[in-house]
Amino acid sequence: MTTRITVKASGTYDILLSKGGLSRIGQALKERFKPCTIAILSDDKVFPLYGKTVTQSLEAAGFKTVCHVIPNGEQSKTLDSVTGFINCMVQSQVTRTDMALALGGGVIGDMAGFAAAIYLRGIPYIQVPTTLLAAVDSSVGGKTAVDISAGKNLVGAFHQPALVYLDTDTLSTLDPSVLRDGFAEVIKYGVILDRKLFDTVAKPGTFDLTEVIARCIEIKRDVVEADEFDRGMRGLLNYGHTFGHAIEKLSGFTITHGSAVARGMIIAAQVAAKYGFTDYTGQIAQVVKDYGFETGSPYSAQELYNVILSDKKRSGGDITLVLPKELGQCTLEKMPATRVLELMKEIGL
Ligand code: NAD
Ligand code: GLY
Repeated sequence: MTTRITVKASGTYDILLSKGGLSRIGQALKERFKPCTIAILSDDKVFPLYGKTVTQSLEAAGFKTVCHVIPNGEQSKTLDSVTGFINCMVQSQVTRTDMALALGGGVIGDMAGFAAAIYLRGIPYIQVPTTLLAAVDSSVGGKTAVDISAGKNLVGAFHQPALVYLDTDTLSTLDPSVLRDGFAEVIKYGVILDRKLFDTVAKPGTFDLTEVIARCIEIKRDVVEADEFDRGMRGLLNYGHTFGHAIEKLSGFTITHGSAVARGMIIAAQVAAKYGFTDYTGQIAQVVKDYGFETGSPYSAQELYNVILSDKKRSGGDITLVLPKELGQCTLEKMPATRVLELMKEIGL
């Protein structure tokens, strides 16, 4: 069975979600797009696992494929790597009537999307997410980016995909730690906008993952449709991320993104309680622990604050925190940076 979720943003596109549908990707594209060349960007972990299934299916459906495979990991998410992919498209004479396709996790998706946004001033692209994080978050919504030495995701563009094609069976080959990192984002969706989802995922291993992913995608769809260009409500998706990013950075990226966000979600819940909201720290921390994440911050309020401030310089003005008001209902609370430092001190960091 294939579930279809449609996003109506600056481009309207479908997210097709199935369990076991990867070998039918060619047919799905044939029903939507004219025959063309598809330039596939993937990494050296994902392509050996799924590259053949995808290319064979696309070619059987009448598409020509060219593949560009890069080393896996965040260190590949650079302008140089994007240039490498663009050069591959140039050599393969990819035109504006052709397409790019991201086969991989968030790193590949962000890069292929960015290359598609700038090559020939923009060509269509398809997301084939293969990590839980990419499935529920990065493949949907059109944020594309690369890292530069000054920071992560500092160069990018909004460019919505033409299709997202997800086979949840591909998640079965993920390293357990990568899968777990994705669950931090799943828990996040529950806390910010859906109490029922929070309750469903509260006990690891007791729910249908494909159904949970579909619900997360629906939430992301709703947020993107309401605020495609991240001027308001889309900020809710940053729940746990202000503190999480600071922890991730201070650890020199030895604490993974998901683990840092998990810690950040608890800190945000503690801060919310000091701010005057009902205290949901216990429930959120319990779920986070049940997924095997560590809790607490190895860094002091002042250390976290310094990093948060250096990020703030880029956004200017006050700091906006995402705070749970209820389980399943977060709000954006704008406050002076010094208030954030005070609140962190008050919770004992
Ligand atoms: P990733 O793409 O680096 O994937 C993690 C690891 O899993 C890699 O080693 C990869 O090779 C491997 N992998 C991927 N799929 C696999 C599979 N099916 N089987 C076995 N191994 C597999 O990391 P990620 O966590 O998917 O994404 C993180 C990136 O996403 C970051 O760069 C972050 O900035 C970005 N991101 C973007 C958005 C957005 O809205 N655009 C949102 C959140 C995160
Ligand atoms: N992952 C955050 C966003 O899409 O806005």
